[in-house]
Amino acid sequence: MLESLRGLGYSTAAALADIIDNSIAAKATEVRLSFQWNGARSRILILDNGVGMNDAELEGAMRLGDKNPDTARSADDLGRFGMGLKTASFSQCRRLTVSSMKDGIHSCLRWDLDLLASSNNNDWLLFEGPAEGSAAHLNVLTDKSNGTLVLWETLDRIVSKGFDADDFNDVIDNVEAHLSMVFHRLLEGSSARLKLLINDRPVAPWDPFMSGHPGKPWVSPVTHRHTDYGTISLQCHVLPHRDQLNNDEFEKNAGPSGWPAQQGFYIYRNGRLLLAGGWLGLGTPRRWNRDEAHRLARIQLDIPNTADMEWKIDVRKSVARPPIALRGWLTAHATDTRTKARNAFAFRASPSTRTSSTPIVHAWRSSTTKAGTKHLIDRSHPAIAAALSICSDHADVMDAMLKIIEETVPVQRIWLDAMEQKESPVNHFAESPPDELLHVLQVMFNDMIQRRGMSEELARQALACTEPFQKYPDAIKALQIA
Ligand SMILES: Nc1ncnc2c1ncn2[C@@H]1O[C@H](COP(=O)(O)OP(=O)(O)O)[C@@H](O)[C@H]1O
Ligand SMILES: [Mg+2]
Repeated sequence: MLESLRGLGYSTAAALADIIDNSIAAKATEVRLSFQWNGARSRILILDNGVGMNDAELEGAMRLGDKNPDTARSADDLGRFGMGLKTASFSQCRRLTVSSMKDGIHSCLRWDLDLLASSNNNDWLLFEGPAEGSAAHLNVLTDKSNGTLVLWETLDRIVSKGFDADDFNDVIDNVEAHLSMVFHRLLEGSSARLKLLINDRPVAPWDPFMSGHPGKPWVSPVTHRHTDYGTISLQCHVLPHRDQLNNDEFEKNAGPSGWPAQQGFYIYRNGRLLLAGGWLGLGTPRRWNRDEAHRLARIQLDIPNTADMEWKIDVRKSVARPPIALRGWLTAHATDTRTKARNAFAFRASPSTRTSSTPIVHAWRSSTTKAGTKHLIDRSHPAIAAALSICSDHADVMDAMLKIIEETVPVQRIWLDAMEQKESPVNHFAESPPDELLHVLQVMFNDMIQRRGMSEELARQALACTEPFQKYPDAIKALQIA
């Protein structure tokens, strides 16, 4: 049974998060992870300063399913099935030693899958004390009155053939990224509830919602939904477009799995993140995927641990499914957020220096009909309008030209290019030397004043809300009639 429980499919990071959950439930304020590389004899230690366990409690903790999943838990308990300590540990290692101090009294018990397998005895063989040669690793507890140390040895699921010290370091980086996300709410602020250290380095929180960033186009108020198993809260966020971020911010806020994968719902249970992204099987008429266009959408959803049954929380705490009764509510909020995120992704934001609230005149607009979405050139864009007006004697030729362009926009091609670059389509003007843009800007300015008889002031105002010039207020200010 223990051997088969190893295959639950925990990642190393998720398994460690489950161990840390126990520390938090035991009121620990500090958890120290220590990764010690020594080839096949490498180990991982998790030390907390929680209340600890006495002999009987430790024996219960080492048993599978010692607690009934139906029992009510205190509001800050992150456990449920009475399995995590064992299933998470055995998903990574073959020897699990737990050493605990409660009010100065020490207890230590150990599971060893290798010894179990070689024993003819059909009893559960739970050993007392550390394995031979491992006592030294448990010393850190001796001068403390309360706390628990979990020691993983024989890391056969991590240190496989050909695995080296560099790979071990990659595992550590991965674990750090995951934990900084999963526990970010507990790690945040000057009075953080939890201090988490990996090899003596503090883990910094990673906030998926970029709270307080001035470039965020939209945040919804927090909405609550009362159910008979507790209150669910929801807040929708649209993150800033790439243009609003420097390279560092862009990289950092992508998250452990990258921008597209990190879109969607973030489900928190008692402030601990269970699920990072994804659309929960919602979406009409087809289920939503995590696609490029909606990568700026992230939705925070809070559920209490009294909702575990209804939300189908699994042992690994990495699956949660919304109850049917809430799907309509969630879909409505997600649809709204997705639309706003899509717009933010498609249109680069204008610089915040723009004070006027005049809407920007775009060169393209899209129109959705039963037959699909068409992309049309906006005839009222000053550059287009000017050409149409000057060539009014040849209106049919001009119209034919615009129609041909509209009908042949290589949408698929642009889409593929954009996806491959993992970036919104390159806006030619934004990337090219300003000379090219300045030239076009000058032509427009001259046309407005010389042909259309606008005042300089009015021309400047018009250009300031015309795509793509709205992004260059300084260039517009510097314009001189030529
Ligand atoms: N670090 C710890 N400090 C104190 N008690 C612990 C610790 N880890 C586990 N326990 C005890 O062992 C029990 C079993 O843990 P676990 O197998 O993870 O299941 P669950 O968390 O669902 O109860 C916990 O309920 C708790 O009482
Ligand atoms: Mg647990």
